[in-house]
Amino acid sequence: MSLIDNIPALLDEVKQLTASTAEDLENLRIKYLSKKGLIPQLMGEFREVAAEQKKELGIRINELKNAAQEQINALREQLSQGGESEEKPDLTRSAYPTPLGTRHPISIVRDEIIDIFARLGFCLADGPEIEDDWHVFGSMNFPDDHPARDMQDTFFIEAHPDVILRTHTSSVQSRVMEKQQPPIRVICPGRVYRNETISARAHCFFHQIEGLYVDEHVSFTDLKQVLLLFAQEMFGKDTKIRLRPSYFPFTEPSAEMDISCNICGGKGCSFCKQTGWVEILGCGMVDPAVLDANGIDSTKYTGYAFGLGVERITNLKYQVKDLRLFSENDKRFLEEFQSA
Ligand code: PHE
Repeated sequence: MSLIDNIPALLDEVKQLTASTAEDLENLRIKYLSKKGLIPQLMGEFREVAAEQKKELGIRINELKNAAQEQINALREQLSQGGESEEKPDLTRSAYPTPLGTRHPISIVRDEIIDIFARLGFCLADGPEIEDDWHVFGSMNFPDDHPARDMQDTFFIEAHPDVILRTHTSSVQSRVMEKQQPPIRVICPGRVYRNETISARAHCFFHQIEGLYVDEHVSFTDLKQVLLLFAQEMFGKDTKIRLRPSYFPFTEPSAEMDISCNICGGKGCSFCKQTGWVEILGCGMVDPAVLDANGIDSTKYTGYAFGLGVERITNLKYQVKDLRLFSENDKRFLEEFQSA
């Protein structure tokens, strides 16, 4: 059988040629199109055929030649663009960038706060979110009829009035003191719950960080100095602090601490309500009654405690206007913290 009889089969063949490397492609070109290739051979045979067949055969050989050339050109193009999908993997290529998740802004700020106090020698302490009345209120010197125990603020379980969701991390102070004698220097981050209507400015849960330092001769000056250092580490070295007298059942004296508004630099803006100051935490000297209730000799030891809201600090750092954003898991909000 001559090559000429094979033209239909050859035409099918060349239309399906594949090449995964430049070398494969060159071999195909040699096989079909080079001087000694199949198609030039056909041209040779063409000269021998009878004159009346020449016209039709010429057309078919040309068709075959064009098809081979087109297919080889198409393969060359494909290879220059990176080849087909079954191409061998390029092991020298760097890995594809893996999309990283983002840390939650509350976690970012909580860790930053923990870091600052860890550098001052504070250890981490933890306690349960589902607590009993004693650790949240009783041990913290809340009189039985104190309004904070009211159903308005605290989530109770009706059938078990002693089981509550902690309303503040001060409960962890008690958990630490009942197990450990001074020196105590702990920082207690955690979630707390209050029976509040959810709005842009209040939520039924939020995060606090409690600090407690108990030892001999601990004074209010120590507290002030540590809080000043914290404020300047967190918000910049020009930050000023201001302590205003306040009241908490578990500290005496008690204070609330403001920092110079880091959004307007103290000049006055809508965030600080034009005062130049924003409140960030409550603090004070641990009331001797609290030390005694938790098994620590108040004639020998003194201590200070402070408690701050992580959401509040995060708002100040990142100017988040609506508290609800922190718990809605909206990816558009969370992705804004990609590089933080
Ligand atoms: N527990 C207080 C609150 O939730 C904060 C606080 C902690 C105040 C420690 C003083 C000392 O508001």
